[in-house]
Amino acid sequence: MEHARADSPPDLVAALARARSPRRPGPGTPAGGAVRAWPGPPAAFPTAGPGDLDVQVLLRLSLAASDGSGRLRPAPSAGALHPVDTELTVGAGCSLPPGRYGYDPLRHRVHRLGPQPDGTPPGVTAALSVTARRTLSHYGHRAWPLLLLDTGHAAAALYLAARALGVSEPEVRLDGLAENPPAAVHIPPPGRRGPARPADSARRPEPSEPTPAELLARRSAPPPLPGAPSQDALRAVLATAARAGTGDLRWCAAVGPPRPGLVEPAADGAALRRYAAGEARPTLAAWAAGQAWIADAGAVLLAVGCPADADAPHIRRAHLRAGFAVHLAHVTARRHGLAARPVGSWQQADLGAALGAAPGRDWVVHALALGTRHADEENTT
Ligand SMILES: Cc1cc2nc3c(=O)[nH]c(=O)nc-3n(C[C@H](O)[C@H](O)[C@H](O)COP(=O)(O)O)c2cc1C
Repeated sequence: MEHARADSPPDLVAALARARSPRRPGPGTPAGGAVRAWPGPPAAFPTAGPGDLDVQVLLRLSLAASDGSGRLRPAPSAGALHPVDTELTVGAGCSLPPGRYGYDPLRHRVHRLGPQPDGTPPGVTAALSVTARRTLSHYGHRAWPLLLLDTGHAAAALYLAARALGVSEPEVRLDGLAENPPAAVHIPPPGRRGPARPADSARRPEPSEPTPAELLARRSAPPPLPGAPSQDALRAVLATAARAGTGDLRWCAAVGPPRPGLVEPAADGAALRRYAAGEARPTLAAWAAGQAWIADAGAVLLAVGCPADADAPHIRRAHLRAGFAVHLAHVTARRHGLAARPVGSWQQADLGAALGAAPGRDWVVHALALGTRHADEENTT
């Protein structure tokens, strides 16, 4: 039985073109309920047996809200609107009995939807879809790229939570081929290997496991984000993003004085290569819905690609992977003591054309603003 409700734009290619246009969104509309209305009664998570994948902890470390309003979560979301819905298919070796479940991140409860399909592998598969209305309520025609980026961030949060629980090979599907659900993460029980990794799945991006405390502490630093990151920290953040966001995306960072310009990872990954000179941050601020604080951020990590003639699977893939990679880069940034904030709303951000290359090829898809000091610390010094 198909339960997932299809929330996808009638024409993603046209939706992205509109989102990139200078047109401003109109007045807000109602966001609707904060959680999808799953059928049936909510159930608490059973205690995990020895060797089982603890689904309760997995979701606590990735998607659960830790406050009543639902704002404080391990995964970020554009406008804190949290449109991503999670449906779990549970196989053997988990703390939940096999079956299909809807997850309520506000109450941290599951709703049983039915039996698991034949051939369900051990572990849990989280299918990620969106209730578009939530993000549309604030961002209007700018919502669709944000919904896909949010889904990529949620996939990354699950990936990191699985790694923190000792699962060495969570399998992340961000190929963009499916419209709904656009993304899925399969997590085998700890100590067991997942199915053979398809060539297209996200590559293992981090050398060391994240800790549960680190995942729960992740927040987007409030702007402004002044202070240039060290070369070492910037190189680590770029390397994480480039490893995780493979394929169609190019990764670079805009840096300010004393040598303003754009840097990218050198071929050997051990150094930064400067490939454009000149101050880019004020232009980035203008392109990002006029968020002036971006002009003074210490650096801005950029995911670039998704040409104007990209088809719907390409658009999905680029945005899902950009969200996934920026989330991992955010955790790396924090490990290096940096303040960081994702930036996802981009209009007319044709970076390639601005650098004199062919127009319509290299658009800013997503970004992570970086600084060394928080605004609060600034105010007290
Ligand atoms: C896809 C995406 C796009 C975002 N875009 C912006 C942005 O353009 N400007 C901004 O200040 N914050 C942006 N954010 C950060 C959110 O506002 C932030 O995640 C949200 O308020 C929840 O706060 P938290 O990340 O501290 O949990 C974005 C986050 C995501 C995931």
